[in-house]
Amino acid sequence: MRLIIRNNAAEGSLWAAHYIASKINEKAARTSEPFVLGLCTGSTPIETYAELIRMVRDGEVSFKNVISFNMDEYVGLPESHPESYHSFMHRYLFDHIDEPAENIHILNGNAADTEAECAAYEAAIEKAGGFDLFLGGVGEDGHIAFNEPFSSLSSRTRVVTLTRDTREVNSRFFDNDYEKVPKQALTVGVATVLGSREVVILAFGSKKARAVRDAVEGPVSHYCTLSGLQNHEFGTIVCDELSVGELKVNSYRYFKAVEEAER
Ligand code: GLP
Repeated sequence: MRLIIRNNAAEGSLWAAHYIASKINEKAARTSEPFVLGLCTGSTPIETYAELIRMVRDGEVSFKNVISFNMDEYVGLPESHPESYHSFMHRYLFDHIDEPAENIHILNGNAADTEAECAAYEAAIEKAGGFDLFLGGVGEDGHIAFNEPFSSLSSRTRVVTLTRDTREVNSRFFDNDYEKVPKQALTVGVATVLGSREVVILAFGSKKARAVRDAVEGPVSHYCTLSGLQNHEFGTIVCDELSVGELKVNSYRYFKAVEEAER
């Protein structure tokens, strides 16, 4: 696992945007096959998306040959609701880049048959050739996508019940009323994310320090679903100084030294 430690979230976000763009450009230079990208929501990726939007505007990268799949969506929230992940993604990314509408995939949390929706999603990911890169965030309890603690590390796209903790944390988007936060979501599984050829996770701020510590120094465990990343060949967590605050000094030094050596 690789840890990129930047001074603050703004610098970490720039690193992530430039890294993703470089991967899209690298693939475009070598093949006409589309770049398959996993995307996330939450407050964390907003600055990364803003930089990607700038790069598209300035001709530094194009999403014309990118196929994206978002990681999750609430069940039962209308797509038009401002806090649906459909609305979020259009507001912060899709409305401002050149990705063709037909290349955008987001789970339908209002599907009549949610199980069929999830199965079709997995099939569509496979048909697209699997993920080249999955960009994710992490919950305060170490959850990846909506794979709450004790989700199977072998899980695939499915319906999940959100924990009280997650609903409390996300209530800031729902008038601070956790009762307004949907009780269920559709989410890609841990194994769906880890099936990507590369995984990049953003974790900024002291509220993510416990999750980063558990994922990096703890055992691979369903207690912290992000810890499954330890078994991935190309897993990166992009941090700021605050989110690495719970790491052992020697772990911190190790990752800093690796970065220094690679510069
Ligand atoms: C939600 C999303 C996750 C996201 C997490 C953290 O639970 N399902 O994908 O990583 O929130 O959100 P934030 O970036 O706002 O801290």
